[in-house]
Amino acid sequence: MNSLAKIDEIFIRPMHQEDLHDVMLIENASFPSPWPRNLFIRELGNPISDLFVAMSSGRAGDLVLGYIVCWLVAGDVHIHNVAVHPHFRRGGIASALLEYVLSYYQQRGAQTIYLEVREQNRPAQELYKKFQFHPVGLRHRYYSDTEEDAIVMQRPIV
Ligand SMILES: CC(C)(COP(=O)(O)OP(=O)(O)OC[C@H]1O[C@@H](n2cnc3c(N)ncnc32)[C@H](O)[C@@H]1OP(=O)(O)O)[C@@H](O)C(=O)NCCC(=O)NCCS
Repeated sequence: MNSLAKIDEIFIRPMHQEDLHDVMLIENASFPSPWPRNLFIRELGNPISDLFVAMSSGRAGDLVLGYIVCWLVAGDVHIHNVAVHPHFRRGGIASALLEYVLSYYQQRGAQTIYLEVREQNRPAQELYKKFQFHPVGLRHRYYSDTEEDAIVMQRPIV
């Protein structure tokens, strides 16, 4: 995957199957138990699932910088996956994805948004705190790979 010294502008659009090569590079670099490609393919065909990519246009063409996967069920949004390419972290890309989905689901009348985050995942917890998510529960040993607990975080969509 190419890297850009500086990202001037990003745009967000629905994920397509053609993005999965880049998405899988990010996924594999981001998680101890990455989603397999066929899980993304399944989600792309799941009517309750919305997948978005954050993109940048560069000299070598469009580049996937990050992505988010959410479900909308009975007015509640569940963030199932979010990751940013390691070269481009701390550049506001996850923030842009979160702002996008908050606005997207507000327009669709969703009430709350929630997620699980690993107890040891400080960067993600800081990100969610910055977006006014607050902890509402703990799922004991939720992650079977590391036996870590999951913190459940939630916020209203206003
Ligand atoms: C968590 C993750 C998505 C953040 O993406 P990002 O694009 O770097 O996040 P942003 O640049 O939008 O950061 C927004 C805020 O999050 C917090 N944050 C992000 N990375 C942080 C870090 N490494 N340490 C502390 N706070 C961090 C900060 O409050 C930051 O605001 P600031 O830069 O003004 O201080 C990214 O680190 C990642 O892909 N991690 C691996 C996958 C993952 O853990 N996903 C979440 C699963 S629940």
